[in-house]
Amino acid sequence: MALPTLQTSRLQLNPLAEHNRDNIIALDSDPQVVKYVHNGRPLTQEEAIQDHQERLSACKQVPGLGYWAAYLGDVFIGWGALSPIQSNDGTFPATKAELGYRISPRFWRQGYAKEIGRELLRYGFDELGLMEAVGQTMAVNEASRATMKACGMRHVRTFYTEFEDPIPGTEEGEVEYIIIREEWLKLQ
Ligand SMILES: CC(C)(COP(=O)(O)OP(=O)(O)OC[C@H]1O[C@@H](n2cnc3c(N)ncnc32)[C@H](O)[C@@H]1OP(=O)(O)O)[C@@H](O)C(=O)NCCC(=O)NCCS
Repeated sequence: MALPTLQTSRLQLNPLAEHNRDNIIALDSDPQVVKYVHNGRPLTQEEAIQDHQERLSACKQVPGLGYWAAYLGDVFIGWGALSPIQSNDGTFPATKAELGYRISPRFWRQGYAKEIGRELLRYGFDELGLMEAVGQTMAVNEASRATMKACGMRHVRTFYTEFEDPIPGTEEGEVEYIIIREEWLKLQ
């Protein structure tokens, strides 16, 4: 199943494609964008290309799940994801997905991540029959936490991971947010 094109009130969400490579390189090499991801370090061009390829591959694991490039008119503003989650037994369940997003800083705080997140959850619950969507971020990533909350997700746990080269804020841990199907339906 090819990923569908999705529409929000202001944005068109196109399935992430090979031709988005330069968009991804620009996002991943921006220090503001990677402050709380990729160990807080801008990616090299080679690393960003590798990441892009991995995301494109992730789009093939579970029918309907993957990454979308968000466009405001003709302008790429970032991406949103409803990506597959690997279980302990190595399989990728079709009923659970991880919500993610990354927006170019000049478009921050205009409601775009919220708009993308809500549309991806609608698509996931209404069209794919998902039972649950989760999201994780560093506890100090206020923007990401607020976005998950604004999408109707609730904080379920804070956990601590050992990193070889921890970045500021690591000591506060990582947070996980969840929304299950019944909660989503109640919000509609
Ligand atoms: C996280 C991110 C996608 C948010 O994008 P955005 O388009 O600016 O978010 P929105 O404008 O839709 O705002 C969504 C909510 O977050 C809040 N918010 C946004 N930025 C915030 C900030 N820096 N601090 C606190 N709250 C913030 C908004 O007020 C809004 O909450 P509300 O609906 O209760 O008012 C963006 O900051 C980003 O790309 N960051 C870098 C990548 C990243 O960290 N991704 C998440 C990794 S897990």
